[in-house]
Amino acid sequence: MKGIVFTDFLELVEEKYGLEMVDNIISQSELNSGGAYTSIGTYDFSEMLQLISNLSLNTSVSVDDLLMVFAEHFFNTLIKSHPNLVEHYKNPMDLLASIENHIHFEVQKIYMDAQLPTFELIEHKDDKLVMIYKSDKALYILGKGLMEQVFKLFGEHAIIEYEKLKEDGTEVKFTIARVV
Ligand code: HEM
Repeated sequence: MKGIVFTDFLELVEEKYGLEMVDNIISQSELNSGGAYTSIGTYDFSEMLQLISNLSLNTSVSVDDLLMVFAEHFFNTLIKSHPNLVEHYKNPMDLLASIENHIHFEVQKIYMDAQLPTFELIEHKDDKLVMIYKSDKALYILGKGLMEQVFKLFGEHAIIEYEKLKEDGTEVKFTIARVV
């Protein structure tokens, strides 16, 4: 997993819970990196799982709720770092439908060793999108949170439903209904 995910996550933990919490979750986790991340580095995904589950234990906030909060922070960082990837989209549906063949496609060129999810587009209408998320990381809740941030960016709302196609969350079908 790319370092930008770790640095952004720890920045959020510091903002919300303070530096002591950052130190706590780092020392409670078994990290090969020792918890020293740079945004351009690449680290074991298992380190992120440990950090977030320790944060969940310390705060009594569920991992899913933490992922939704993180999605907001991460999305803002992503669009600040790569404004050119999103600025020409005129609406959230087109942006979301283009994650696979444009946004993440370009991301893969910028961060060569990024391990991105795939989003297979099943249906793309003005008011409805159906797509299938696939990733070994099973971060579909992060995906849902990022989708909500896309609607927020355009000042719009949507009802986002998902159905696990695999019990472990590595394949998830999203149905996104635009609220107008
Ligand atoms: C400017 C827009 C975006 C940029 C620059 C971007 C970039 C990235 C980067 C760098 C990662 C980390 C990959 C790694 O650690 O190897 C990532 C992961 C991810 N992205 Fe995006 N992304 C963008 C928009 C979105 C949107 C709108 C969604 C919503 C569906 C999304 C869904 C995800 C998910 C779910 C992951 C976690 C990895 C996984 O599930 O396998 N991204 N993205």
